[in-house]
Amino acid sequence: MSRSSPWETLRSVVRFGRIETDPVERRLARAASVADLRRLARRRLPGGVFDYIDGGAEDERTMAANQAAFARVGFRPRVLRGVEKVEVGSTLLGKPLAYPLVLAPTGFTRIADPEGELAVARAAQRAGLPYTLSTLSTRSIEEVRAVSDGRLWFQVYAWRDRGLVKEMVERAAAARYEALVLTVDTAMLGRRERDVRRGFSLPPTIGPGTLLDGALHPGWTWAFVRSEPIRFANVAGRSVGDGASPVTLSDYINTQFDPALAWDDVDWLRSVWDGPLVLKGVQTVDDAVLAAERGVEAIALSNHGGRQLDGAPATFPLVAPVADAVGGRSEIICDGGVRRGSDIAKAVAAGATAAMAGRAYLYGLGAAGERGVDRVLGWLQADLTRTLSLLGAGRIGDLDRSLLDLP
Ligand code: GLV
Repeated sequence: MSRSSPWETLRSVVRFGRIETDPVERRLARAASVADLRRLARRRLPGGVFDYIDGGAEDERTMAANQAAFARVGFRPRVLRGVEKVEVGSTLLGKPLAYPLVLAPTGFTRIADPEGELAVARAAQRAGLPYTLSTLSTRSIEEVRAVSDGRLWFQVYAWRDRGLVKEMVERAAAARYEALVLTVDTAMLGRRERDVRRGFSLPPTIGPGTLLDGALHPGWTWAFVRSEPIRFANVAGRSVGDGASPVTLSDYINTQFDPALAWDDVDWLRSVWDGPLVLKGVQTVDDAVLAAERGVEAIALSNHGGRQLDGAPATFPLVAPVADAVGGRSEIICDGGVRRGSDIAKAVAAGATAAMAGRAYLYGLGAAGERGVDRVLGWLQADLTRTLSLLGAGRIGDLDRSLLDLP
C-alpha cells in the first residue's frame, strides 16, 4: 500500500466554493424539493399568512388525502425500452404547453410576496405553462396581462351581482385570456380553523395579536409595509368591497358570492364567453358526466386543495373513473396534492390531460419570491422528465395505466 501524506489526501478533496452573497440564492441553495420550500416559507412568512396558504378545512382530512392518494399509488416501471430522449411537451385545450401542468388560481397572492400574481405570471410564461388568475387576485386582469404574453386563464366566482361577472369576463376577453375557469365548489367558504383561531383577515392586519408575529418575520413585514396596500384588484373601488377595510374571507365570500349556482348558470356563462370553459371543483363521476354532456372543454377535478368540504374525496383516485365515464368528451385536469413531477406523471397515466397545482408554487413564492416559483416549476419539469425516463416512457403519450401499480 502506498502511503501519502494527510495533506495530499486533504488537498485532493477540499474545495472552497464561491461564497454566495445573494440571500435569496443562499436560501434556495438549501432547498431540494417543494417540501423544503414549504419549510422555508413557514420560517419566512408570519404564522397567519403561512397558515392561510398551508391550511385546509376543519380536520384537514381531505387536504391530507390528496397527497396520500399519490403516495399510495406506485409505478410499474418498464426497462430496456430503448428510450434515449424524453419529451414532456404536451397539449391542453388545443395548445402546446411545456409539460402537463397548469398553475391553479390562488387568492391574495401578494400576501406571500409583494410582486404577487405578477411574479407568478412571469414565471409561468418562462416555464411555458398556463397561469390561472383568481377573481380574488391582488393584481388585476390587465396588470397581469401587461407582464405576460403567455397563456393566461381567468378564474370566475359567481358574484351575486351577475353584471360584475359579465364585466370581468369582458375584461378577460379584451386582455386575451384564453379560458374561463368557473369554480363550483364554493357555495360557502369552508371552515379553515387555522384562520378562525388567528382571526386572519384579508389583507392581514397588524395589531396587538399580530405585532409579535410581524416582528419575528422582519423580511416579510418590511416588504409588506413598503409596497402599496393589498387590494382585491379586480374590484378596486367597487361597492362589493375591495379589501380597503380588512375582511375575513368567509364574511366576504358568504355575502358576495351566490350559493345557488346551478347548471343554468354554466349555460349563461357560455352565452357571455366565446372561448373554452373549464369547470373547477367537480368531485364525482356523476357531475363529470353532466359537465361533459354540457360540452365543457375541461373538467378540473378539485376539492379546492381540501379547503372546502372536509370529507370530500381525494382527487387523484377520481381521475381513472372519470376518464372512463367521460370518454374523451372533455379534458380532465387533476388538482390537489401535486408536489412532484411524479405526481403529474401519475395523474396523466391515470387518464388526466394535465395536473394543476397551487400550494406548490405558493411555497416557492413565499420562500424566495419569483425565483422560488421558477425553481419549483423547473424542478417539476425535471422530475417529470426523470420519472418518464425511469418508467421507460419517451413521451407524455406513452403514459398509461399499465405503468401504475393501482390498488
Ligand atoms: C380562496 O379561494 C381560498 O381557497 O382561500
